[in-house]
Amino acid sequence: MTYDFSKMPNSLEEFWMPFTPQRLFKKHPRMVVGAEGMYYIDANGRKIMDGSAGLWCSNLGHSSPYVKEAMMEQMETLDYALAFQMGHPAGFQAATALVNAFPDAYSHVFFTNSGSEAVDTALKMILAHNKKIGKGDKKLFIGRQKSYHGVGFGGISVGGVPYVRNTFTQLLPYVDHMPHTLDLERNAFSKGLPEHGKELADKLVELVELHGPDNVAAVIVEPVVGAPGVIPPPVGYLKRLREICTEHNIFLIFDEVVTGFGRLGEMTAATYFDVEPDIITMAKGLTNGAVPMGATLVRREIYDQFMDGPENQIEFMHGYTYSGHPLACAAVLGTLEGFKQENTLENARKMSKVFEDKLHTLKDCPFVVDIRNCGLLGAVQLEMGDEADPYFVGRSASYEMFNRGVFIRYNGVNLITSPPLCLSEDDIDTLVGAMHDVLHDIKAGKVKH
Ligand SMILES: Cc1ncc(COP(=O)(O)O)c(C=O)c1O
Repeated sequence: MTYDFSKMPNSLEEFWMPFTPQRLFKKHPRMVVGAEGMYYIDANGRKIMDGSAGLWCSNLGHSSPYVKEAMMEQMETLDYALAFQMGHPAGFQAATALVNAFPDAYSHVFFTNSGSEAVDTALKMILAHNKKIGKGDKKLFIGRQKSYHGVGFGGISVGGVPYVRNTFTQLLPYVDHMPHTLDLERNAFSKGLPEHGKELADKLVELVELHGPDNVAAVIVEPVVGAPGVIPPPVGYLKRLREICTEHNIFLIFDEVVTGFGRLGEMTAATYFDVEPDIITMAKGLTNGAVPMGATLVRREIYDQFMDGPENQIEFMHGYTYSGHPLACAAVLGTLEGFKQENTLENARKMSKVFEDKLHTLKDCPFVVDIRNCGLLGAVQLEMGDEADPYFVGRSASYEMFNRGVFIRYNGVNLITSPPLCLSEDDIDTLVGAMHDVLHDIKAGKVKH
């Protein structure tokens, strides 16, 4: 059999695509057939700069030779072995390497296949933990408005994105939400962390009082909100959340599916903000996007608590067929090697400042009402359009930029960029220049989408 993945397929019909208007896409498909470094390549050989690192995941750039080498080696050796009461070397090597790459407080990692599963795993761990210590009533989760935690029932319940939750008629019980921290009136065009809003963390105190500390199990936040619009936390906010959680014996989960693996110039946002949550969830950059994987990283105390029963019994009734899949574990090892060989964190730190300065030059462009950034995460918020098509500008800009050779995503009113961490100053110029030009051209009526 000869495979050819470099041509447009015969039919687009059968694939029910995720988070996509099927009929619109299939009329006007945006398709790529290859990718290398900062670029996608389409079926005509055209290069398109990837201003989104895939979906916040190809942090080393596409087709990293380090990831490829590790995966090929594993594919030659072992295609699959289960991790339920069996093992294979790459699983343990990847777990050790991850624990070593992350702050000392975290001692064990549970492998999943996605960020959604990493979040649901974290929530389930906490419920099981509390039941085990005789505190089964401590089961309420507190999330936050405008936070995204994937699409599992746990994730959509603690998440705070209305359109992700409200499509469904049933969610987890025992969940509440803190207010979000987006405040254009006081913080618009802040460079990096906004100055105002630390006091919003104290809303958590109100919720803990309302529900009773003995009933609240955990708080989950994205340290920097990603998908709902890149919202960096106000100065001091995360530290205050940590204080409140510690005071009331409530677990704190950082969902680092976006911020983990170098996006802020450190392996974790926990290190970047110098705040230690009890659990960190990851995915995306973990394998450089080359193969699905998620991970739930826990502090030693949590793991140890599970280990106090009989040795011949399963301590945590949870797991996935593909937990610790050999290819994914190989990709983790290749990704970590790539980070080391290419000084990825250093480049991310260096480029973050350039990215910040350049992105904020868009302030005077048409439609722009706010610009937010942290590390190599950026959002340009646009005016809402009229009722008939409120997201016209964002959609037009994203589609037109693709036509012009630069891909970035939009989520309604925000243009969102999270480029590969290997980018250069010239790449930043191209990316921001394309945003500048397209916004002016939309204003001048030169873009028809
Ligand atoms: C913060 C956060 N958590 C969880 C998820 C879900 O990850 P996945 O799509 O791999 O299930 C995402 C995905 O974008 C995310 O941004």
